[in-house]
Formats: sequence, C-alpha cells, structure tokens
Amino acid sequence: MTNLHPTKLPVLNASANGTPLFVVHKKNYPSWLEEQNSFTKNWIKSTGYKGDGLVVIPNANGELDKALLSTDTDDQFCAGELYNLLPEGEFNALSDSKSVLEKVAFGFLLGGYQFSKFKSKDKTSKAVTLNIDDADVVSVAKTYAQSVFITRDLINTPADSMMPEHLAATSNALATEYGGACRQIVGEDLLDENYPTIYTVGRASSHPSQLIDLHWGSVNNPKVTLIGKGVCFDSGGLDIKPSSAMRFMKKDMGGAAHVLGLANLIMAAKLPIHLRVMVPAVENAVSGNAFRPGDVITTRKGITVEIDNTDAEGRLVLCDALAEANNDQPELIIDFATLTGACRVALGTELPGMFSTSSNVANGIKEAGENCGDPVWELPLHKPYKALLNSEVADITNCATSPFGGAITAALFLQEFVDENIDWVHFDVMAWNNRKLPGRPTGGEAMGIRAVFEYLKARFQP
Ligand code: BES
Ligand code: ZN
Ligand code: ZN
Repeated sequence: MTNLHPTKLPVLNASANGTPLFVVHKKNYPSWLEEQNSFTKNWIKSTGYKGDGLVVIPNANGELDKALLSTDTDDQFCAGELYNLLPEGEFNALSDSKSVLEKVAFGFLLGGYQFSKFKSKDKTSKAVTLNIDDADVVSVAKTYAQSVFITRDLINTPADSMMPEHLAATSNALATEYGGACRQIVGEDLLDENYPTIYTVGRASSHPSQLIDLHWGSVNNPKVTLIGKGVCFDSGGLDIKPSSAMRFMKKDMGGAAHVLGLANLIMAAKLPIHLRVMVPAVENAVSGNAFRPGDVITTRKGITVEIDNTDAEGRLVLCDALAEANNDQPELIIDFATLTGACRVALGTELPGMFSTSSNVANGIKEAGENCGDPVWELPLHKPYKALLNSEVADITNCATSPFGGAITAALFLQEFVDENIDWVHFDVMAWNNRKLPGRPTGGEAMGIRAVFEYLKARFQP
C-alpha cells in the first residue's frame, strides 16, 4: 500500500494550552505594546525588536512567558516562517480574528514542510506544537496543508521512485481513502483502447505508460474533469535536453501532482461534484524505439500530429486525455501541466499562466486566487498564432515554428482537442520554488490549486 502522506504535518492541535503567542497586525503593534507591563516593554526595547516578525519574551525568572508575532496579517503567508522561528515547545496562538487564526494555522503548517524521506540522518523534526482553540480552523488548515504536501511530496520524489506505476499507486490510494474508483490503462492496452499518443511518447521507457482515470462522487452532480501532465522524467527524448535543463525534470509530473492535491481538497471537502481525474503518465526516455522528429501520430481524436520536437511531449500526452475528457461532456475541464519553459519567461516562475475558453471561469478563478493568496495570471488563446502550428505533412505539428509566445502556441495546440461547447481551463505551472519564500521552501510546490478549489467551492457548494 502506497503511503499517501510521506511527509507528516507539523503538530497543530485544537487546544488553548501552551505559551501565549499573540498575533497582531503590524499597524496595531504600538497599541499592543502600550498595554504590556514595564518588564515586557523593557525587554522588547533591549532586544531592538521594532514590531516586525517574531519576538519571544521571558518573565522575571528568565523563563519563556509569551511570544508576539507582529506581521501583515492580510498576507496569506504572514505566518509562513513561524515553524522555523519558534523555539521548541508548545504555543497557543491568540487573535480575536478568525481569519488571522486561519492564516496562522495555514502558514505554520506550510512553512514546516521538510522533504526528508531520502535523508539517512537529520530526519528529526523540530518539536514545536502550535495550539489554536478553534477546531474548525485547525481542521481546514490541515486539509489544505495535507493537499499541498501531497503535491510537494510527489514532485520532490526522485524520478526513479516516481514513475507511472507510482503515480498510479498514489491515485489508487487517494480513491480508496475517499471511496472513489480508479482504473489504469497500461502499456500496450493503450493502443487497444485508442490512446496512441500517450503510448508513443512513453514507448522508449522501461516503465510502461499509463492512463490513470479516477472517479469520485455522485453521477447526479455536475461533472468536473481534472487532467494533469504526468511526465515522470523529461529527458527531452531524441531531442535531448542539455544537462542543466534536464536537472530538475523529475518535476515534469508536476501537473499530475497538482490535480491529485486538488482532488484531495475537493474530496475532503465533499464538494457536490462528480469528479474525474485523468493522468497520462509516461517517461520521455531515449532508446532505440523512441519516437522521432518527423514521425506522424494519429491521435485519439483523429487529428494527425507531425513531431517537430520530441521535447514538446507534454501537449502530446495531454491531447489524448483531453479528447477522452470531452466524451462525457463535463461542465468544466481543467488541466495542469509543466508545459513550457516559455511560460516562466513570460510570467516568472512564481505566477502560473492560465488560459481559458470561458472568461467567466477565468475571472472567477483569478479573483478566488487573489483572495486566498494563490495568484494566477491569464494569458490569451490568441487565434492568429495557430498558424504557427501548421505542418507540411500532417494536420498540425507539436511545436511552433517560432519560440516566441511558446506558452500560447502550446495552449492553442491543446485547444484543438477540446470541443467548442465545453468550458476549459489550462494552467502552465512551474511546480517548483526556485527560491525560499515564507511558507514555501525551495523545491516542489502547488501553484493555483487553492485558487481553483476556492472557485469550485463558490460555484458548486450550496
Ligand atoms: N517540461 C518541459 C517544459 C518546462 C521546462 C517546464 C522547464 C518548466 C520548466 C516541456 O516538455 C518542454 O520541454 N517544452 C519545450 C517545448 C519546446 C520544445 C517547444 C520548451 O519549453 O522548451
Ligand atoms: Zn519536454
Ligand atoms: Zn515536459
């Protein structure tokens, strides 16, 4: 049985025990200080603390008496450094605002993430317990963190331990946990069941390709289908990547990791939707039977694609999954993919690109993202660039003639496989923190799943 949760959450309990940890907005720090006794005022003055961040305050015996976190409590990640900064012990976060406590719980958990599964030493986590006297706040934050940890763990796990069969095992464990069903189409069965593109891209790997297909929820509910790019390692194929570009390509199943983390959020919250999660899982490997530049694939939809570049493999595996996703006419299809290097050139690595055939849905997700500190940015499905995918020998090529607007041409390629009447959203994500930010250690990261979850909650929860 796969362990769905290799990284345990930091300890957060619904309780009022522990050293008081006051959480105040920076602008209220002067008035908080004003109310303290002269000992505390003197201590704070002598440490040079200026009302920004954490300070721990002793009593007259030199024992820990209380702590203060003065911060921008409007920021979702305002407590993102809390776990790292607090000394070992038990603390009780105090604020008269529920939304501040929510952020404290969230930031504490997300900032305490450490991927130590492959460390032989230094595995002990810091013994900090945070208590918040609100069971609701604690349980919501835990579900959020657990979902983000699923995504981060999957991305951070080295490729040799995160091949298609491992993504399948995780998907099955998730289905089992929430009473859903998961099936896989594996290896040559992909050809029998007409997923030729997924099969062809993964053909050179010793790990058989899979189409993972998870269902959950009542069939009477509105149907939402999530699709995640599951390229377990992207060597580039015969158009092999230079070593610096290949170095972190274990993260190329980041889209799959995103939809599995998002599915966890949806299922834990019991959103009244009929959820389908599809993950085309392959390794883009090099071998004698690898697909080649110039080859033509007849895709599931019947559209023929000339391979211009074997490194543009993500759109290929996604196209068969998208074609299938249309068949049951869902209300919404959302895909996540580490699709292009061009997207991070356009938006930087910390802002996911979002494309949509529905401006309503796009605006809804963008707004939800702003409100929950999970920003996304819409890029255009600019039709005239479709001509850049013209092929001399097939219906289209998998790679535009010009590298400019690469995230857009990739999205336009995907759009060819979505029926016009279906609302579709595509996320081009980095799935990786290049630098450490509060609550966001370097390494695998979930980007946009909270924005989508909040949108779905607002739209579908009665
Ligand atoms: N997985 C990469 C895209 C990628 C690279 C995402 C680095 C995030 C960080 C994708 O399969 C790829 O190689 N895309 C090529 C497409 C090109 C050949 C048209 C790219 O972006 O260079
Ligand atoms: Zn690639
Ligand atoms: Zn890729």
